[in-house]
Amino acid sequence: SIIVLDFGSQYTQLIARRLREDKIYCEILPYHASIEDIKAKNPKGIILSGGPSSVYSPNAYEVDKAIYKLGLPILGICYGMQRIAVDFGGSVIRSDHHEYGKSELHIIDVGENCSPLLKDCDDNAIVWMSHSDKVDRLPEGFTPIATSANSPYAAIADESRKIYALQYHPEVQHTEEGYLMLRNFAKNICLVDEKWKMEHFLKEQIKLIREKVGTGKVLCGLSGGVDSSVVAAMLYEAIGDQLIPVFVDNGLLRKGEREQVEQVFKLNLKAPLVTVDAVDNFLGKLAGVSDPEQKRKIIGHTFIEEFEREAKKHDGIKFLAQGTLYPDVIESISVNGPSEVIKSHHNVGGLPDWMDFELIEPLRELFKDEVRKIGLELGLPESMINRHPFPGPGLAIRIMGDVNVPDLTILREADVILLDELKASGYYAKTWQAFAVLLNVKSVGVMGDNRTYDNTICVRVVEAVDGMTATFAHLPHDLLERISRRIINEVDGINRVVYDISSKPPATIEWE
Ligand code: XMP
Repeated sequence: SIIVLDFGSQYTQLIARRLREDKIYCEILPYHASIEDIKAKNPKGIILSGGPSSVYSPNAYEVDKAIYKLGLPILGICYGMQRIAVDFGGSVIRSDHHEYGKSELHIIDVGENCSPLLKDCDDNAIVWMSHSDKVDRLPEGFTPIATSANSPYAAIADESRKIYALQYHPEVQHTEEGYLMLRNFAKNICLVDEKWKMEHFLKEQIKLIREKVGTGKVLCGLSGGVDSSVVAAMLYEAIGDQLIPVFVDNGLLRKGEREQVEQVFKLNLKAPLVTVDAVDNFLGKLAGVSDPEQKRKIIGHTFIEEFEREAKKHDGIKFLAQGTLYPDVIESISVNGPSEVIKSHHNVGGLPDWMDFELIEPLRELFKDEVRKIGLELGLPESMINRHPFPGPGLAIRIMGDVNVPDLTILREADVILLDELKASGYYAKTWQAFAVLLNVKSVGVMGDNRTYDNTICVRVVEAVDGMTATFAHLPHDLLERISRRIINEVDGINRVVYDISSKPPATIEWE
């Protein structure tokens, strides 16, 4: 296997996922794992992940330096590169130009003497950077193998010791040849040859669920989205009628969504769905609250409260199942300690101690597209599988400022127009996510002969594969024009539509 030592990067699990795609087994350990623990896994190579801190900060994360004496190939990424540079006697400085986002990679030798790490990679491919420190002086034995505009040491290597280090992130989707570099490292440099398969995951999880649940009952929170639907289908396979699926209408849903969810669920899943009407509870608690994190926390707590209330109506419920995915986990809490909290995803963070439920989260280590594959294996229909993601906190995080019924109504109307137009033009299927945001920014307009002073809708449409990185969708201008015209003409209270042209990073997909 390959061991990834985690320094707290947002992208650590992506490294694992890229390797999984190549059927290579890999395990993530915290950066401070002892040499004994690492040796016990019998790895063929080690990857040092990125991380948010600086190698020169007073409490900089260090590895057990004995790993460098194992004679194993090592690949350092971003912080991992800086760690290697310093540990081998080079130096790192704070860069004048922070590099976030795209950069072109120039491979120094594309010929016969090309580094095995970059073998078959296209020259001038786009790589994704996200760093402010950089290597200043190379340690002895290392040479650069690729450069970028701001980094003469975008990739370095000590070929004789098989130690490699990259300033960019090969694991993110938008690094064009990144998957090939990771494959080169695992297959050609570490020489691993295991065969790991996704189907194994499903069988293994169903077995684990059966063992864990025994004769107890499981309440499964359903949103109508892919993740919770897949969890419900998995649970039904595993425990049949011991499953109680619950759909909470929190008043933050899109237009017609409650009815749609109820219908789709009836057609495709065998367990009878319980719908809880909690609109007043959610909107009451959110009244007057405009801080994004506070909104997210209130919604998370209120969901738990509603699940708890529902659970009391049934006998023997011991578990709560949720469709938590890896990106929700990584951006909300720091799994192994060091990552930064980006936003509190509503379904992460454990349960309050007064609740005696245990959590079941079978998708916790997976990404959306992996979940979609499992959904298809479980026989769920494509329409359900290919729905765009919709966040647990719903429209609340798409209204800047406090959440109230008039604003929800405006946003719902704009959103439905956007989705209609995208479906009609075929762009719904081609994009990861599309939604409207109510900015609560007023501006002056003219309609007919009258002055207006109304609100602004921002249209956000992004392309992504796993939601960890994203670029705004390059929609045709005539489509954007149609969307804008219809929203302004058909939605009362809107006189301006803008299009969000930010990527993730440095923006996030949602606005809050
Ligand atoms: P961000 O905004 O963090 O979003 O770039 C990445 C993906 O996650 C979705 N998202 C959520 N999903 N609960 C969820 O179930 C949440 O609290 C949540 N917040 C964001 C977002 O829609 C995007 O697909």
